[in-house]
Amino acid sequence: MAKDSLTITDNRTGQSYELPIQEGTIKAIDLRKIKTGPEDFGLMTYDPAFTNTASCQSQITFIDGDKGILNYRGYPIEQLAEQSTYLETAYLILNGELPSKAQHDAWIYNITHHTMVHENIKGLLDGFRYDAHPMGMLMSTVAALSTFYPEAKDVRSKENRRDQIFRLIAKVPTLAAFSYRHLMGLPYAYPNNDLSYCGNFLQMMFKMAGSYQVNPILERALEVLFILHADHEQNCSTSAMRAVGSSEADPYSSTAAAIAALYGPLHGGANEMVLRMLKEIGSKDRIPAFIQEVKTSGGEVRLMGFGHRVYKNYDPRAKIIKRMADQVFEVTGRNPLLDIALELERIALEDEYFIKRKLYPNVDFYSGLIYQAMGFPVDMFPVLFAIPRTAGWLAQWEEMLEDKDQKIARPRQIYRGAARREFAPLSSRG
Ligand code: CMC
Repeated sequence: MAKDSLTITDNRTGQSYELPIQEGTIKAIDLRKIKTGPEDFGLMTYDPAFTNTASCQSQITFIDGDKGILNYRGYPIEQLAEQSTYLETAYLILNGELPSKAQHDAWIYNITHHTMVHENIKGLLDGFRYDAHPMGMLMSTVAALSTFYPEAKDVRSKENRRDQIFRLIAKVPTLAAFSYRHLMGLPYAYPNNDLSYCGNFLQMMFKMAGSYQVNPILERALEVLFILHADHEQNCSTSAMRAVGSSEADPYSSTAAAIAALYGPLHGGANEMVLRMLKEIGSKDRIPAFIQEVKTSGGEVRLMGFGHRVYKNYDPRAKIIKRMADQVFEVTGRNPLLDIALELERIALEDEYFIKRKLYPNVDFYSGLIYQAMGFPVDMFPVLFAIPRTAGWLAQWEEMLEDKDQKIARPRQIYRGAARREFAPLSSRG
């Protein structure tokens, strides 16, 4: 009968070790007993970028990258995108189950009644330059919230955590919209609690003098985009959230760190880069030359919105967004860059370079086209990723805090620097 274990023979010593296998993994710490002698530290694994290391056990999001499957708490993303709302999905992600009617109503009430931010936040935003990137402003104002709610430091209290979760999910759209209004030189539009989460965000963004009518198709499209972005297991920003949170930093500081990680062009900044890339390509006839440049640049020029560490198939979120684009364009008019994107996808998916490396469109390839058609400036795209991902970050943060296996994150290193040497005073260094 096969045993769930791994036998390793250390050829340096000839000694064999048996390590248990659980859930397809061995514990890295079990390798420590593999030593050449009592002075030896013991074996470690070397895994830059954690390409083959599970850093936690999680019950939140399941991804099968080869099959292109994404489930939150077991529910397929396609069903949630079709039938759920963002706030209901956020509840599911955070609590593990879909809410009952009473739980749903209480949840919506609590989020809706935390949307206001302290007036001093406006003073903080006013300190930014006129052209400050809204992601920088969002990151800073989220971090600043920690100073308004110092009780948030008590991260071991579940009840206290609940309050901060309400606040963060409720206030992030307000801070995001305020950042945009600062960028545009417009007066801040306050939250309207009569509207849905997405409807309210749209009005805080786009309301001018007079009343603002939320278009239900655009409101639903934003809802779906928010559902698709709500969580994505152990990605770069979620790992940042968990790592910073593991030092028991308050959730505002940890979320600001997650926003910082999301800002990069290889992560949440990619949707912005896709739009800039499509604009630069400019017309369909220039696509072959661009593809050639990508292929010969040795990884320097990338087809933004393509490829994923986990998906080696079409990103299921990209499929949903691509289908939804037509509904949005019926309201907003067709984004002229769509034709370039469609042709780019067609050519790339037939090209040996992309086929061999299993590079398919990811969530960012089409989302920017929709955001742009809805009137969001390109600078706001990563912000539109950060708003819904806040629920995922917080769920992962709570799960980390409640996980008995977790401690402060502290990876090892292989030291390759100079051996011990004696300090030479400046005067003797020539
Ligand atoms: N265009 C051209 N070549 C690519 C691309 C791309 N977009 N992505 C990967 N490759 C190549 C890469 O050069 C490498 O080739 P080779 O084997 O010849 O050296 C091979 O494919 C493997 O790439 P990698 O960089 O080792 O893969 P990774 O898992 O480390 O990177 C990624 C994943 C998402 C950072 C990368 O695919 C990428 O840079 N994509 C473009 C940026 C992007 O769209 N990011 C959004 C990701 S989805 C939203 C999110 O969750 O953040």
